[in-house]
Amino acid sequence: MTEKLTFPPGFLWGTATSSYQIEGAWNEDGKGPSIWDTFAHKPGKTFHGQNGDQAVDHYHRWKEDIRLMKHLGLKSYRFSIAWSRILPEGVGPVNTPGLDFYDRLVDELLANGIEPLPTLFHYDLPQALQENGGFASRTTANQFADYAKIVANKLGDRVSTWLTINEPIVFAANGHLIGDHAPGFSDIQAAIAVVFFQLLGHGLAVQAIRSSASRPVSVGIALNLSPVYPATPAEEDCKAAALFDSLQNRSTLDPIFKRSFPADLLELVSLLLPPMADDDLKIISEPIEFLGVNYYSRTVVRHDPAVPFVELAEVHPQGNPYSMMFEIFPSGIYEIVKRIQRDYNPPKIVITENGIPVADEMDLDCKIRDVRRIQYLQDHLTQVHKAIGEGAPVSGYFVWSLMDNFEWAFGYRMRFGLIFVDFDTQERLTKASGEWYRQVISQNGFIPRINYTDPDF
Ligand code: GCO
Repeated sequence: MTEKLTFPPGFLWGTATSSYQIEGAWNEDGKGPSIWDTFAHKPGKTFHGQNGDQAVDHYHRWKEDIRLMKHLGLKSYRFSIAWSRILPEGVGPVNTPGLDFYDRLVDELLANGIEPLPTLFHYDLPQALQENGGFASRTTANQFADYAKIVANKLGDRVSTWLTINEPIVFAANGHLIGDHAPGFSDIQAAIAVVFFQLLGHGLAVQAIRSSASRPVSVGIALNLSPVYPATPAEEDCKAAALFDSLQNRSTLDPIFKRSFPADLLELVSLLLPPMADDDLKIISEPIEFLGVNYYSRTVVRHDPAVPFVELAEVHPQGNPYSMMFEIFPSGIYEIVKRIQRDYNPPKIVITENGIPVADEMDLDCKIRDVRRIQYLQDHLTQVHKAIGEGAPVSGYFVWSLMDNFEWAFGYRMRFGLIFVDFDTQERLTKASGEWYRQVISQNGFIPRINYTDPDF
């Protein structure tokens, strides 16, 4: 009989979502357009031209969604605030109905015993700010702090835990270099500036939240982190892997925790850096109470002279199962947590995202037995438990996602939810994985099973 894996008392079990991916109501109640509204409305940018105009209608169904969270027994719910609902132009007068939406959401969560965990920026920059350079400009970092102040003034009497920015590297790389996310640029210099000014905006927002909230707060940032491996032991592959590690992980971890950028990165981009001010790194490294880690998979890299500038490429090794988007590699979450603890030693680590897209199918009895998702979550939680057992300060875990939603350029093709959504009728249905997670939460742990081919949920 396998032993039960029990988590520390008070472990924060949650799920995560983001505004553009779930809310819909893209132009209601005075909301201004965001860069995702603009991008997804352009032909050819997303799968089948899909967009978040309606998304999963959470803006109207938030009460029902909180009832579903209550059913799961969530201790916390991570959501993001749409900047352009609060400030339609990104700056200027506050749009009260927009702010009121999150005010009601927070009250209802608290009334149901669920701790709100808002993220202030999850990719959906107000379009008006983009017109002035967006996060490639220092001005936007300052405006982000002003916006943080407004939100913290309103919600900071009830919200104790905050995230400033979600995945600054994805926003910079996919949005400004690869171009498959909004705003859809391919401009390396802009991408580098966007990393830097998001980090600066983060630091300024930490200060703003702390000075505006009327209760003690715990503030963090959610980084997409991934252990990097060389494809072969050849020296050039190892060098490529080390550089990719600097780009993917150390580019944000080092400035936040060590007040510096990795030397190999600085060397690579020295001519492209935006002008920095004396105090910038001090602000960026403003101490935080916890680090949010979004983990999905590892990254394997080889030297590739054909790729300009970085001369490296990602490879997809054989041997492990793959999801519809990435290799399944549970021990990677253990490795990244251990490494963060060893190299950066944050007071706390929260897994702010972990999850898997599955092509969910409904059985004849109208149940969705998403055993692959249960297996994925169980195997990753087992690794998190192992790291905790060895002293890693992981205090919470959030499944991406509460419910199926708009997966950026993939549109509605990728289902990540514990709750199924019929995108035509907006009907919700808890999947087997949701029932499994409910049991995990209620028992503060689980007995690992080798194989979930026949789920009892
Ligand atoms: C991101 C986000 C989420 C995604 C999730 C699944 O990584 O882009 O934080 O918005 O939906 O990671 O890909």
